[in-house]
Amino acid sequence: MVSAKQGASRTARRPLVSGNWKMHHDHIEALHAVRDLGLRLKREEAALVDVSVHPPFTDLRTVQVLLEGEGIPVMLGAQHCHTEDAGAFTGEVSPRMLARLGVRFVIVGHSERRRLFGMTDEVVAATLVAVLRHQLTPICCVGESAEERDAGRTEARLEAQLRGALAGLSPEQLGSLVLAYEPIWAIGTGRAATPVDAQDAAGFLRGIVGEIGGAEAARSVRIQYGGSVTAENAAELLAEPDIDGLLVGGASLQAASFHDIIRAVVACYRSDAA
Ligand code: 13P
Repeated sequence: MVSAKQGASRTARRPLVSGNWKMHHDHIEALHAVRDLGLRLKREEAALVDVSVHPPFTDLRTVQVLLEGEGIPVMLGAQHCHTEDAGAFTGEVSPRMLARLGVRFVIVGHSERRRLFGMTDEVVAATLVAVLRHQLTPICCVGESAEERDAGRTEARLEAQLRGALAGLSPEQLGSLVLAYEPIWAIGTGRAATPVDAQDAAGFLRGIVGEIGGAEAARSVRIQYGGSVTAENAAELLAEPDIDGLLVGGASLQAASFHDIIRAVVACYRSDAA
């Protein structure tokens, strides 16, 4: 069977499926959810697809111990962090603290942080630098609102966010990033972007990475789609050549639905390898 992933696999971009739990699951619920995921996730699946979970800060230590103790092939992620390593920043958590906990990925500039907590492009850029300083991989989120989309300003918005965020990164750093295209109107609405629209945006973002950091950076940067991802739409989104993974909110909270999405992605890459 021929799959549209052939172009992507030739560049050896590993798919990444990430579960952003947002402010859900206390540490006990987290324990159950990750243990359940560990029972479902097969070694062969994890060999083909990178999987990360991004619990709230209070759950990180519990999940770290569980993942390491039981050898569950899931990587630990965080949802946010501060730009500094330490200091008088009441309520904040530093990238250094996350690195010490074995965190591998940090979501940076999620639209909820931008809209609800005033995170600017400048702060997003500084946070990317801070995360990279600790050898963590940022998942940098960009996306347009419904109004921007209706006004035909999607590309202008994405370009402004991306150029603002990536200012100051080297081509190597750019290539090591994960970008997430998350249209705001698709988040938590049950109305995912069509594969064609998601591909248009992902291809556009990859083109800008190329303009900033060159062809190699564009080839290696991984781009996720996020916004109402389910097991039903995961495969068609992943089939698009510039979409290398998924950032999943609601459907990542239960191990069963998250694992169904991972399985759909695995099937897409397996048919590609065949
Ligand atoms: P949903 O999958 O719940 O739409 O959330 C998407 C999201 O914001 C992931 O970061």
